[in-house]
Amino acid sequence: MKILVTGGAGYIGSHTVLELLASGYDVFVLDNLSNASPKVMERLEELSGQTVRFAEGDIRDKELLDQLFADEHFDAVIHFAGLKAVGESVQKPLEYYENNVGGTLTLLQSMRDHGCKNMIFSSSATVYGDPAEIPITENCPKGQCTNPYGWTKSMLEQIMMDLQKADPDWNVILLRYFNPIGAHKSGRIGENPNGIPNNLMPYITQVAVGRLPQLSVFGNDYDTPDGTGVRDYIHVVDLARGHVCAVRKLNENCGLKVYNLGTGEGYSVLDVVNNFKEANGIDIPYVIKPRRAGDIATCYCDPSLAKTEMGWEAEYGIRDMCADSWNWQKNNPNGYETGDTE
Ligand code: NAD
Ligand code: UFG
Repeated sequence: MKILVTGGAGYIGSHTVLELLASGYDVFVLDNLSNASPKVMERLEELSGQTVRFAEGDIRDKELLDQLFADEHFDAVIHFAGLKAVGESVQKPLEYYENNVGGTLTLLQSMRDHGCKNMIFSSSATVYGDPAEIPITENCPKGQCTNPYGWTKSMLEQIMMDLQKADPDWNVILLRYFNPIGAHKSGRIGENPNGIPNNLMPYITQVAVGRLPQLSVFGNDYDTPDGTGVRDYIHVVDLARGHVCAVRKLNENCGLKVYNLGTGEGYSVLDVVNNFKEANGIDIPYVIKPRRAGDIATCYCDPSLAKTEMGWEAEYGIRDMCADSWNWQKNNPNGYETGDTE
């Protein structure tokens, strides 16, 4: 089975490519490298021992897509490509709608034009807004997003639902990720944020490696056990394996499916700091700051539908996530740009 992976040089995409190759799938990566290093492709080849086919290009380029679909006859697309910085999306809404919504429309048109009607889409827990119920099941109503990035996910879900309804030949799986952290056990691929990280774990690892002085904890007055925000952190390798299960599900002609991908466990910011210390023996100095705009108190899922229907469940716990995030950071203190000892 031949799979186009858009955004396959990125954080979640690269881990997924490895899992797909290990399961014997024929993979082709399309990425414009706007948020990824070309070194990722070399490392994927090193780790997999296989040639990984790659085109540097943009999902908004219909001509390129049409050529690729005509030449390669993909059976399915796993669609990671998109811009994902929440704060930046507030500053640059048009860029986000154009890249994420516009790009996905172009991709879907090219898929339809070439008879490739199998799609796995990277959605997000952000579509639940401030969730109406905890733990969050897939039946929980979607909510008000607090930023354009979140709306792009919510709108794209709707667009793909409408498409599948109009043409039931489509199989569409919307995967709502909770908070991916961790890295491949080898420490050769991992998350490589540009500039100062927005997300908790890359911030913590950059404090640990000495690039940043201390962590700011955004609020300790939430209605949670220790007052700090609670999230459902999931190891990126578990998340990647969820995509392999989703590919199998597509092969059952599944129609439209929506799955939460998380562990079902909630950890506060201070829980993560403590687990990082337990796992790695490193203290993370922190200071309490005001709440960050748009944050919610608690977000964790009920992941049982993915288990029942796809046979998927997360295997790694928070300690593994902390250990593997640190292993990646300490071996690559400046991401992909240096730290390569070859
Ligand atoms: P990432 O930025 O590491 O990967 C996205 C990749 O897409 C990058 O390599 C980038 O170069 C590429 N890309 C962006 N726009 C493109 C375009 N127009 N054409 C071709 N390539 C393009 O992000 P990630 O963390 O791996 O996230 C992957 C997907 O999962 C994204 O859609 C993201 O919104 C979604 N998601 C991520 C998280 C998270 O916390 N990381 C949570 C929920 C959902
Ligand atoms: N936090 C801090 N300090 C930091 C960074 C984060 O205290 O420097 C706290 C946040 O306030 C929150 C928790 O750590 O309580 C997690 O924050 P992240 O930024 O790591 O993750 P979010 O849950 O805010 O957002 C993530 C993704 C979004 C996605 C959302 C829901 O970044 O893209 O999960 O899926 F939309």
